[in-house]
Amino acid sequence: MWSSLRSLVPLAGIISMVGAITLDLNSVDSVKSVTSSLAYDMMTYYSGNLSGQVPGILPGPCEDVSCYYWWEAGAMWGALINYWQYTGDESYQPSVIEALKFQIGPDENYNPPNQSKNMGVDDQDFWGFAAMEAAEAGIPDVGGKFPSWLSLAQAVWNFQVDLWETATCGGGFRWQVYSFNAGYNLKNTISNGGFFQLSARLARYTGNQTYADWAEKVYSWMENSLLFQMQDGHLYIWDNTDADGNCTQVEHYVWSYNYGVLLMGSAMMWNHSNGDTKWQTRINSLLDGASFLFFPAEHGSTIMTEMLCESSSNCNNDQSSFKAYLGRWMAVTSLLAPWTYDTIMPKLRASATAAAGQCTGGDNGRMCGRQWYTNVWDGSKGVGQQMSALAVIGATQISSKMVPLTSTTGGNSTNDPDAGNDAAHNPEDEFKKNPITTGDRAGAAILTILIIGALVGLSVWIVL
Ligand SMILES: *[C@@H]1O[C@H](CO)[C@@H](O)[C@H](O)[C@H]1NC(C)=O
Ligand SMILES: *[C@@H]1O[C@H](CO)[C@@H](O)[C@H](O)[C@H]1NC(C)=O
Ligand SMILES: *[C@@H]1O[C@H](CO)[C@@H](O)[C@H](O)[C@H]1NC(C)=O
Ligand SMILES: *[C@@H]1O[C@H](CO)[C@@H](O)[C@H](O)[C@H]1NC(C)=O
Ligand SMILES: *[C@@H]1O[C@H](CO)[C@@H](O)[C@H](O)[C@H]1NC(C)=O
Ligand SMILES: *[C@@H]1O[C@H](CO)[C@@H](O)[C@H](O)[C@H]1NC(C)=O
Repeated sequence: MWSSLRSLVPLAGIISMVGAITLDLNSVDSVKSVTSSLAYDMMTYYSGNLSGQVPGILPGPCEDVSCYYWWEAGAMWGALINYWQYTGDESYQPSVIEALKFQIGPDENYNPPNQSKNMGVDDQDFWGFAAMEAAEAGIPDVGGKFPSWLSLAQAVWNFQVDLWETATCGGGFRWQVYSFNAGYNLKNTISNGGFFQLSARLARYTGNQTYADWAEKVYSWMENSLLFQMQDGHLYIWDNTDADGNCTQVEHYVWSYNYGVLLMGSAMMWNHSNGDTKWQTRINSLLDGASFLFFPAEHGSTIMTEMLCESSSNCNNDQSSFKAYLGRWMAVTSLLAPWTYDTIMPKLRASATAAAGQCTGGDNGRMCGRQWYTNVWDGSKGVGQQMSALAVIGATQISSKMVPLTSTTGGNSTNDPDAGNDAAHNPEDEFKKNPITTGDRAGAAILTILIIGALVGLSVWIVL
């Protein structure tokens, strides 16, 4: 891997002369122009708006590494809503709204039949987040037969709340919704953190205490599990713990989006609770951990780095997008928990400049790689790479005008606490009529194999 990358480097250097991006963070026009290119290049991967194609999803199904899982498309629509807020560019709003409408599913809770069999709690969360972003950004509800943005997020919440499981580990959400999927045994941070963040945002938007109580319950379950561990004065949040062993073992991997999802949710709770110091303490600990791990000292403590997979060049398509979420969620945190602004903004700005320096690849000379800590294109490109650079550069434009709306500060998305509740609730029942096929099982297993493949690759690299 290293030798093949080295041989790419001189070539990349030449290509970068063609279209490389010039970013001046002190110029709003420069930021707008750069992010417009990044968004355009990201959307070249999307064909769901062409006739005969399926709106909302990225190329798949995932039989090889060049595909994108359904969740990442949901994440991309959320990123484009933020892009519109950062820059005022409405170009992609029609595609965003069409996508968020098309993938709603028959139970109006982002569990569409094409995706349902492989759906994890975290997958559904990223679509719920996008709906929530629409509500918080003040995008008008579509109206007619379409549920409101807020009610879509509430329907996701209603579907998931029944999945809380106390039979093992004293609580927690399992990664997978369905027991036949690989990974059902795991209780992971992004699924628990995803429900936590959704609860926190619903609490703040609606003022309904039930959501706030759940946010506290899920956070404190994670905090008291092995997922959270203090080490050398910093908070490590591990990726997952195994319910088959009653969560007495934990996988020692740290990912940037796990910190981001908890950080922004905690900022929502701090704001919702009128400044409860419990949340302030949590925010400070999360931000310190994220700063220590993902803005490593070796890159000046200011350049965001997905440290487990970037230097070894084996981040998969999921992992290549994680910095987008940490960036966007840090930006919102800096608005809702204002004392964090002076810590967060210098990191976003330095990372934005660094990210632009990595966007010198591909045929157009401006595709982004992952290694923001070098100006030499790392040879990778994809939706996640574009989304991450777009997010961190756009996020430097955050301002008080972009504070997420609530029902008392101008948000008018229709509240429906019972949304989606007509759905047949026992998830396993759905498949009794349509028994699962070998193909479905294989599809689910691939995700895990890919993850294990990446981690084995990582440890091999460390040993070398
Ligand atoms: C589909 O989206 C791409 C990228 O946003 C855009 O360039 C293209 O014009 C769109 N096509 C249609 C038919 O809307
Ligand atoms: C489900 O897949 C079928 C076949 O590809 C497609 O026609 C349909 O539009 C898809 N539905 C959704 C909601 O993605
Ligand atoms: C809700 O707010 C949006 C934008 O803030 C506005 O365009 C829309 O007309 C409002 N809808 C209602 C029913 O007030
Ligand atoms: C499983 O873990 C929970 C929480 O840590 C604990 O309360 C429970 O007693 C454990 N169950 C068994 C069978 O060890
Ligand atoms: C919560 O956010 C709103 C909107 O930005 C702000 O007016 C309010 O002061 C915040 N509350 C706290 C405790 O910071
Ligand atoms: C608050 O949310 C809970 C959970 O969805 C719901 O049961 C309850 O009716 C809601 N309360 C109000 C006043 O909307």
